[in-house]
Amino acid sequence: MHFDPILLSYLRQATRVTALTGAGASQESGLRTFRDEQGGFWAQYDPRDLATPEAFARNPKLVWDWYAERRAAARLSQPNPGHFALVEMESLVQTFTLITQNVDGLHRAAGSRNPLELHGNLERVKCSQCGEQAADWDESSESVPPCPLCGGFLRPDVVWFGESLPAEVLDAAVKATRVSQVFFSIGTSGLVHPAASLALAARERGAVIVEINAEPTPLTPRADFFFAGRSGEILPALRRAVWG
Ligand code: APR
Repeated sequence: MHFDPILLSYLRQATRVTALTGAGASQESGLRTFRDEQGGFWAQYDPRDLATPEAFARNPKLVWDWYAERRAAARLSQPNPGHFALVEMESLVQTFTLITQNVDGLHRAAGSRNPLELHGNLERVKCSQCGEQAADWDESSESVPPCPLCGGFLRPDVVWFGESLPAEVLDAAVKATRVSQVFFSIGTSGLVHPAASLALAARERGAVIVEINAEPTPLTPRADFFFAGRSGEILPALRRAVWG
């Protein structure tokens, strides 16, 4: 794989690098992206119609079951070489910040120390009424498990369309973005804000924008470097080309 020597030199010199990942970063771990066709029973639904507070209010069991299946798939999956390349970059760059929109926990599983999980995590569950996190719930329950405190329906502690992002996590992501010299956008369609606007914020502050995606996105015309392909192949190759 050939990389522009200018990019290699930027990366060798950079002390502040930020990477934002999306569902494409987990695709090679066998997890479906939001734009992929969903499997089996779920093929009749658009994930964008399931990941909303309105969908949960309409049919909590349907939404709970979709997340239960995604949780099971995430538990069975393994980080791929792209996740591991990001772990290595964390140890090679003085200040490396990893921001993810993924809720599958694979960055942590690979060994990333403190991924900023903008959209929460499938392994956390909270009450849809009182907001309290639940330490335990019956995964095999026939109905949506109730909150032990107030009896409300439990729901995944993830951010749905139309909901606000966890303020502290977003704040840390914005701060890292603003000071980054190189900003990676990896496996994200770049359609969902505010995560999508991070790359543009980095660019405004003079960061070099590197995009890795299976296909062009709305960000591509503004990226300094675009690599079309799989992040599980491109990231390890780039890691080796820069740091040996
Ligand atoms: N390597 C790199 N990119 C890939 C790969 C791969 N192996 N496979 C797919 N892609 C790209 C696709 O081309 C697409 O642009 O990953 C992107 C996945 O896009 P989405 O499914 O839209 O995922 P994401 O950008 O993470 O979605 C953002 O939307 O529904 C919400 O909260 C949800 O976090 C999610 C957010």
